[in-house]
Amino acid sequence: MSKTKTSFFCQNCGYESAKWSGKCPACNEWNTFVEEVIIKGTIQKDKDDWKDYTGIKKIKTISINDVASGEEKKIALNDQELSRVLGGGIVLGSIVLVAGEPGIGKSTLLLQNGLQLTELVTLYISGEESEHQVKMRSDRIGTSNDNFYLLTETNTQTIFQEIKKLKPNLVIVDSIQTLQSPFVESGPGSVSQIRECATELQNFAKETNTPVFLIGHITKDGNIAGPKILEHMVDTVLQFEGDSHYAYRILRTLKNRFGSTAEIGIYEMTGTGMRAIHNPSEILISQKEDQLSGVAIAATVEGMRPLLVEVQSLVTQSVYGTPQRTVTGFDGKRLQLLLAVLEKRGGFHFGMKDVFANIAGGLKLEDPSIDLAMVSALLSSYEDVPVKHQYCFAGEVGLSGEIRAVNRVEQRIAEAEKLGFEKIIVSKYNRKSLDKLKCNIEVVPLGKVEELYRYLF
Ligand code: TYD
Ligand code: MG
Repeated sequence: MSKTKTSFFCQNCGYESAKWSGKCPACNEWNTFVEEVIIKGTIQKDKDDWKDYTGIKKIKTISINDVASGEEKKIALNDQELSRVLGGGIVLGSIVLVAGEPGIGKSTLLLQNGLQLTELVTLYISGEESEHQVKMRSDRIGTSNDNFYLLTETNTQTIFQEIKKLKPNLVIVDSIQTLQSPFVESGPGSVSQIRECATELQNFAKETNTPVFLIGHITKDGNIAGPKILEHMVDTVLQFEGDSHYAYRILRTLKNRFGSTAEIGIYEMTGTGMRAIHNPSEILISQKEDQLSGVAIAATVEGMRPLLVEVQSLVTQSVYGTPQRTVTGFDGKRLQLLLAVLEKRGGFHFGMKDVFANIAGGLKLEDPSIDLAMVSALLSSYEDVPVKHQYCFAGEVGLSGEIRAVNRVEQRIAEAEKLGFEKIIVSKYNRKSLDKLKCNIEVVPLGKVEELYRYLF
């Protein structure tokens, strides 16, 4: 008699329950439980899956003193940006999840990196595209590699049979949501499938010391599709961000067992694949010569890297009863807050105006040090007087209109100096780190937004 076991899974967080319920006790979402068949009674699981791959079955218990210490072995990459976000290369036996919106370039990035690693046998498993489609993409990228193999298959056990034959050094799975394990009956992309497929791949990675890259989808609200448990299982989570209408992409580390999570990689999507960008600030700042009102340059730090970006704003007389606030690339609530500060502390009547704000290049930034540049751009557009193009800004604005200190101010100043700015306006509370600083750029420490207004206009 076949034993079919079913269970209810929350499609939001992956919580498993024997009974259906309206509200998930773990994530408090409503109506997320779906019944999934988890074990088909007839198929027996092969316990020694990877024994004949490595030749030995490892003894499990080991004294910590017997574990070899030292750095994890890493595969060096040509792509410096990917290498940076991974913490210096691909760690053997690691499992890396690369998530992002459709069309952002996940497949392109991993295909391109796989093709560049000519000394390794790479297996690219495509559950989404045909061999022909992948080939067309690789022709666009234009790198040839004799050790690069394709497999269009979604059944995990068939995939493992192929893996045992090929013995690849690197496996890329595009995407985890399309895989299907025969041990679980529910459809591909369901919580129990994703969990089972990821577990099988994880066992493979750990027992054979082969690195595995998983491409993952993202849901409407920007979370990684599938259960949260997927993020716990993998060693590294990278998120690919950017507006698909723009060419720039940011690869951000959300989790990394082998390195810092404060790293970002910046790419440009070109006609021939992804191009790593080593000097992003030079590209993000457009015409330095034109004097336009409503534009200010922010010296931000994304991850560990200083980045100069252009902040743009447009303040116009409101035609409707309720003034509009439209923001791209910046937190809308933060803009409201800055407007309230300017209204209350500076007496500017933004309440009667439509305000549009934008970070150039399609970037989304969260560093609060953009505040000062945003305030300058708003004031500049309000007064219709341009901010001098030799100025840049780094400071957070507090609720009482004070300009607050920012971290890594030396790095920001150095980047601004490198790009030929003449003045950088910072918080006077950063003075401690400024005293020791030797630089050619003039550093202007200010304490309040009122002082900023007087200084600029
Ligand atoms: P893709 O890697 O398929 O994205 P994802 O796997 O994240 O869904 O990339 C999709 C877009 O990138 C597609 O609209 C075409 C574009 N593209 C280029 O602009 N240049 C290229 O060299 C390649 C391969 C793709
Ligand atoms: Mg894809």
